[in-house]
Amino acid sequence: MVVANRLPVDKEVLPDDEVRWKRSPGGLVTALEPVLRSHTGAWVGWSGVPDSQDDPDIDGLEIRAVPLSSTEIAEYYEGFSNGTLWPLYHDVIAKPQYHREWWNTYVAVNERFAKATADVAGHGALVWVQDYQLQLVPKMLRELRPDLKIGFFLHIPFPPVELFMQLPWRAEIVNGLLGADLIGFHLPEGAENFLYLANRLGGHHASRRSVGVRSRFGSVEVDGRTVTVGAFPISIAAGEIDAASKTREIRRRAREIRKELGSPSTILLGVDRLDYTKGIDVRLKAFLELLEEQRLDPHETVLVQLATPSRERVESYVAMRSEIEQLVGHINGTFAEVGQPVVQYLNRPIPRDELLAFFVAADVMLVTPLRDGMNLVAKEYVGCRSDLGGALVLSEFTGAAAELKQAYQANPYDMEGVKDAIEAAVKQPAEDGRVRMRAMRRQVLTHDVERWAKSFLDALKDTAN
Ligand code: ADP
Ligand code: G6P
Repeated sequence: MVVANRLPVDKEVLPDDEVRWKRSPGGLVTALEPVLRSHTGAWVGWSGVPDSQDDPDIDGLEIRAVPLSSTEIAEYYEGFSNGTLWPLYHDVIAKPQYHREWWNTYVAVNERFAKATADVAGHGALVWVQDYQLQLVPKMLRELRPDLKIGFFLHIPFPPVELFMQLPWRAEIVNGLLGADLIGFHLPEGAENFLYLANRLGGHHASRRSVGVRSRFGSVEVDGRTVTVGAFPISIAAGEIDAASKTREIRRRAREIRKELGSPSTILLGVDRLDYTKGIDVRLKAFLELLEEQRLDPHETVLVQLATPSRERVESYVAMRSEIEQLVGHINGTFAEVGQPVVQYLNRPIPRDELLAFFVAADVMLVTPLRDGMNLVAKEYVGCRSDLGGALVLSEFTGAAAELKQAYQANPYDMEGVKDAIEAAVKQPAEDGRVRMRAMRRQVLTHDVERWAKSFLDALKDTAN
């Protein structure tokens, strides 16, 4: 069973009360949906709208919707999850807000998820709890159902100890997670930070040696149980994306996109949820300065930014959206010609096949987060480039940077460094580009999401309890 805040589909109620189910946003669903499709399983989660308990019908998946009221959405989802934990775990790029009412609602909603799971899980079932919205569920679920095997995976970075210590409920979170048999992070550093905190805040004996990638797990002794802690970098359904990107339709659509953009010699592409962690402003400012310094030619270069709306009622998201839209307006106001914008910005989700066509069309992919647990977009781009064309500009502060070493990597806080990386990617010699892309594709195609899920689930089955 998968337990996640989000269901794989998001409910939309149209003005005439007709209900439509769309794919949910974000990397968690991108990664887990194909995993569950290839295994049998149930998915417990929220439908994305208030007070709804409809279970959508999806082939091969048993869905259990957990209802949330409008107040719970405001306090548990927008509040504690995305106004407290999200910025705290992403290097406090925005200031985390600490409110006791938000915490109380987070506890209550975690309890509801734990009960909903306990009600449907078969005896001895394997339950996989996902992400920062549900960090108390492992302990609550263990109390209700000691027979279950419980895994937990954190899809976002686990922060440095000094930052985590800000959290007024730090011990409760650590103890909540320790209800699991296996706790997984993307990177060894996150796992090591957690092991240190399990000792310091939980008072438990924790292993001290360094953690490996899918190997050399750490352990914590909790009330006679051993909790395993490891690093499992997540990935994409690489084979599927590779095959889809080679189809005639997508190749044709990629050529069409270039034409529609005015046949520029260079297409730069950004694809993100509209989130302040993604550094969309960083790439726009770098692009602006490169145009100003005549290092890029506005008649030959187009930047396409596809930004799907996200968490639109959270304050820092509202502020960031207007900053980005101003920057887009400023760049176009300065460098565009009538009918020929230099930045094309779409603030809506793009259908999957269309997105793949954009990846195939793009000469340079810009992935510049200030902090990101993994970043699947970087891997999707690489997965689409069987032609060995294209170049990836990648922030050092993404989980993907540990695996995609042949990307043009840059520190997103160093504007000159980002500009140099973009310029080098635009002007790369073709053979150098092919060598880099071949190496990155080898990494992504041999480490796909199935391998991620298998390595996590094998480690979970091996836990002693
Ligand atoms: P996060 O989980 O923080 O959103 P990831 O890069 O790991 O970041 O995953 C994002 C997922 O959402 C990817 O599968 C990506 O293709 C998809 N996505 C991002 N932006 C868009 C968009 N504008 N339209 C459609 N899908 C998008
Ligand atoms: C990230 C988080 C996921 C979340 C997704 C979309 O990938 O790790 O847990 O589902 O963003 O965000 P949303 O708030 O729309 O669910």
